[in-house]
Amino acid sequence: MTLVIAIDGPSGSGKSSVAKAVARDLHLAYLDTGAMYRAATWWCLHQGIDLTRTDDPEVASAVTAAVLALPLVMGVDPAAPAVHVDGIDVGADIRTDRISAAVSAVATNLDVRAELRRLQRAAIDAEREGGSFSGGAGIVAEGRDITTVVAPDADARVLLTASEEARLARRATELHGDAGAAAVEATRDLVVRRDADDSTVSTFHVAADGVVTVDSSDLDLDQTVEAVLTVIAD
Ligand code: CDP
Repeated sequence: MTLVIAIDGPSGSGKSSVAKAVARDLHLAYLDTGAMYRAATWWCLHQGIDLTRTDDPEVASAVTAAVLALPLVMGVDPAAPAVHVDGIDVGADIRTDRISAAVSAVATNLDVRAELRRLQRAAIDAEREGGSFSGGAGIVAEGRDITTVVAPDADARVLLTASEEARLARRATELHGDAGAAAVEATRDLVVRRDADDSTVSTFHVAADGVVTVDSSDLDLDQTVEAVLTVIAD
């Protein structure tokens, strides 16, 4: 039987760590759709596109054209999900503040979303059809619109939430190595602004019909993975 698992959530909800652990546990492929938007952003900047000016229709068209020609190869092994653009390993670069600050400008372009969603569905179908990484076992796909738009027909759909406080503390620890007041404040601007920008195109703060909410505010990684595995088994 093929399993398709969809996990959505805001920044710092822990969805990437949880989705990877679930995929490893169930021997499924793993698709990080956020990494695809980040890779698209990296490519636009690499092409010299000024992403502070996407309100200008000419800049927006340049973004669309760049993404339609995006030479992206997404690794789907949850133990080592590599991301290559034009043969370059961009796995580390796409996590930098430079990309985090620019990604919403690319991700709110509706032509970009249509193209990346097409690629995401193709990756999911490849796992369903057995020809790819999981040998037909299936895939865990995570992002902002997987439960609602990319894979509304998934076998299990989870919205991973956490309080703003918990999300900021996690992001601060990832980015600055601690969750002290200064690190949290430095993180707040970037995370809260990006969530607000992203909310204009995806509704990932409220679970859609049939989507199960898992609140990880008071759970550690193992407990959250357990909670998601329980949803999948139900
Ligand atoms: O770092 P964080 O977990 O918040 O985000 P991510 O999953 O790496 O996604 C980076 C960005 O890609 C988000 O801020 C959104 O702008 C965009 N994204 C999206 O629009 N739709 C998705 N399905 C996944 C990500």
